Amino acid sequence: MTFSNRLIQWYLENKRDLPWRNTTNPYKIWLSEIILQQTRVAQGLPYYERFIETFPTVFDLANASEEQVLKLWQGLGYYSRGRNLHKTAQIIVFERNGTFPKTYLELLTLKGIGTYTAAAIASFSQKEVVPVVDGNVFRVLARYFDVETDISSATAKKEFTALANELIDNKQPDLFNQALMEFGALQCVPKSPNCSMCVFNDSCAALQKNKVALLPVKLKK
Ligand code: ADE
Repeated sequence: MTFSNRLIQWYLENKRDLPWRNTTNPYKIWLSEIILQQTRVAQGLPYYERFIETFPTVFDLANASEEQVLKLWQGLGYYSRGRNLHKTAQIIVFERNGTFPKTYLELLTLKGIGTYTAAAIASFSQKEVVPVVDGNVFRVLARYFDVETDISSATAKKEFTALANELIDNKQPDLFNQALMEFGALQCVPKSPNCSMCVFNDSCAALQKNKVALLPVKLKK
């Protein structure tokens, strides 16, 4: 079985039921990803629910006042995320006639949307084959393939993106990406992962070499 098949099978059996996973609406996916930057799922979930309830569409968000948006954002921190969210909604509604961009390259042109968020929205909303590469993905791939590249180095992102591009499931990139992130969040955790219970414990290079605790390498703080 391929890496991707095994990963997706693990995901289907172990995933958390999260509201932004039951939609292909790019607005909802975007909102969830912005909230979840620097915020844990348990903390972000009620914010996501309140935002969707208050601003069900990008039009509602664009037509709100910044004060109203920041009030709802209260407690999440990093207020520039909330301000960018609002500004970007206004650009989509007032300058792009309300059409939410869906392709990876279009998404990258928006304020506050970098490669990770663009890949998440494009893959989850329309199955575009682009891998998400975040801290979870660095960790999982560094361990599975015993990659010693310093993840705080300039070349790390390129290297791990290339690796993820080789692994991604071309038919179900959405599932593959969700699965890779969820695997990093639940199984291949930073400290003391339970490798005896891991579906990859017959093939993980770090486990075989007793290097799980040493990977990924991160030199800078
Ligand atoms: N953290 C960032 N994006 C996420 C997602 N789509 N599901 C769960 N946790 C996440």
